[in-house]
Amino acid sequence: MKATAKAHTNIALIKYWGKRNEELILPTNSSLSITLDGFYTTTSVAFDEDLSEDIFVLNNEVITGEAYRRVSRFLHLIRETAGKQNLYARVNSVNEVPTAAGFASSASGFAALAAAGTRALGLDLTHEDLSRITRQGSGSACRSIYGGFVEWNMGEREDGTDSQAIQIQTENHWDVRVAAVELNSKMKKISSRAGMKRTVETSAFYSGWLDSIPNDLKEIKVGIATKDFEKVGAVAEANCLKMHATTLGAAPPFTYWHDSTMRVMQTVQEMREKGIPAYFTIDAGPNVKVLYLPENEEQVEKILKDIPDVQNVTLSKIGPGVTYL
Ligand code: PMV
Repeated sequence: MKATAKAHTNIALIKYWGKRNEELILPTNSSLSITLDGFYTTTSVAFDEDLSEDIFVLNNEVITGEAYRRVSRFLHLIRETAGKQNLYARVNSVNEVPTAAGFASSASGFAALAAAGTRALGLDLTHEDLSRITRQGSGSACRSIYGGFVEWNMGEREDGTDSQAIQIQTENHWDVRVAAVELNSKMKKISSRAGMKRTVETSAFYSGWLDSIPNDLKEIKVGIATKDFEKVGAVAEANCLKMHATTLGAAPPFTYWHDSTMRVMQTVQEMREKGIPAYFTIDAGPNVKVLYLPENEEQVEKILKDIPDVQNVTLSKIGPGVTYL
């Protein structure tokens, strides 16, 4: 009744931005990501008949409060699926997602927890089954089950049984790199959960965002299949800008950007003017991720590190899906 799994973070090129069902975590649009090899979580789950509640240890620290409840609620879903409602677990997680890189660890965290938890209870699941369960821990985590290029199909059914990710290309298809640019910032964060909820409910631009998704997905898939970096980068950057535009149309309006976020965005656009193909994308926070090709790595890293207010630049290749240790 014990298993250990490792899962990597992912970065969306076509963003998931909005839920149609908060409880089941069903999205309002399909999304597409790449899995990153530099950032991962390793999690052991041991179910034990002698335990009267779950225990969650993260980076050698016993976790309580909301983070604990989220993990315990998710374990409950796994227990129900296995028909073992009263069996509690000891969860030990180690995050290799440097907070300095500005990545949320929920994607790799829930993917590793789902993989280890289901394996520990002897559930024999396909990757699609596992992705569907993982989705209910954290939406974007359902894409981290797979390596390479991954699409989360939003599905149509109300019970969520057709909302899961699939792999569209493996990590060996194409060597695209990502630089995670962390900025000095002390602004209060609006969580992705709260940000997307406000946007879905109030943004004047939300329907425009949704209307633009099918074509963005179609275009980026052509770009990935033909390894057309300019196309993939341009579609991803424009999709990110549209997502962030929806927050400006919300009531009350908000933005995740800082002045330094815009400085990085402008620097990336200037790189292109100088002939270095590089494109940015940004999640629900001020930090920027920059897509580039391996032959430009040195230059891209240097230019990004020289921007005022940049605290850290972490480079990553495309990474694999969930593995069991
Ligand atoms: O799954 P969450 O709640 O961490 O939301 C992720 C939202 C974005 O990172 C902004 C976009 C995405 O698709 O990952």
